[in-house]
Amino acid sequence: MAKVIDGQKLAQALRGDLLARAGAIDGRRGAAPGLAVILVGDDAASAVYVRNKIRACDAVGIRSVCHRFPSSVSNADLLDLIARLNADSEIDGILVQLPLPAHIALDQVLEAISVAKDVDGFHLYNVGGLVTGNTVFSPCTPYGVVKLLESEDIAIDGQNVVVVGASNIVGKPMALMLMARGATVAICHAKTRDLAQFTILADILVVAAGVPGLIIPQMVKTGAVVIDVGINRLPDGRITGDVDFNGVSAKASRITPVPGGVGPMTVTMLLENTIASAERALSRGERVAENSASERLF
Ligand code: GUN
Repeated sequence: MAKVIDGQKLAQALRGDLLARAGAIDGRRGAAPGLAVILVGDDAASAVYVRNKIRACDAVGIRSVCHRFPSSVSNADLLDLIARLNADSEIDGILVQLPLPAHIALDQVLEAISVAKDVDGFHLYNVGGLVTGNTVFSPCTPYGVVKLLESEDIAIDGQNVVVVGASNIVGKPMALMLMARGATVAICHAKTRDLAQFTILADILVVAAGVPGLIIPQMVKTGAVVIDVGINRLPDGRITGDVDFNGVSAKASRITPVPGGVGPMTVTMLLENTIASAERALSRGERVAENSASERLF
């Protein structure tokens, strides 16, 4: 029987540390770390995600400000707000909740965010940095998966990893982050023929397809580590992942549950990125202050 990886427990432990770091920032600069969240339209799932993110900010001492717009908002209005937030020294992170309405130029909006405040890691610079190994911020969900694997002492180097799902938010960055840590990675997606011939080879199987019950025991190698990133709402209202949890648990060595696996880690990594951003801003500020003090001396 697989050991269940408790994402909720790890998230709680990490949040204790984040609370202390946020307090230290507040003490040093007289302002808590600040996160601006931009929510457009009335997508029900987005509203839930944003509410969870704001609650999580409150719990660790991050000041969050939510900017809500109707789905008729113009591109120009969003760009205008982002420009103001980029210039606001009390805002350390800017997050645009996706999806955006079709008439908004998504790339333009994401690239308007200052790279130094791009705590979601969706700016092209940060996306490109995943390839070259110099991101300022890693995207939260795959970053959370890496933290979960590390916390369980699961080796990545030299392992065969299969990522099911090729989205910009999870699948593609996940593959690049694990490849950077020495894994041999295959990415499967909706057009992959005979998914099982790939998944059966995986030492670590990461599933982010958005298809409930997609992964059944016959598709999993005995002893594999199975990470379920899926969050699907069933007709009866229950939340379920992409993996047949009960069936696959009998074959895997480790498995994440849904809910309580990757989900809490995604939000925690957003908090981590926001606090890291504030710490960098603070040390930049202190370096500038030191330089101007030494200029005055000489
Ligand atoms: N929509 C679905 N997942 C995410 C996420 O991680 N960040 C943002 N901004 N929007 C999302």
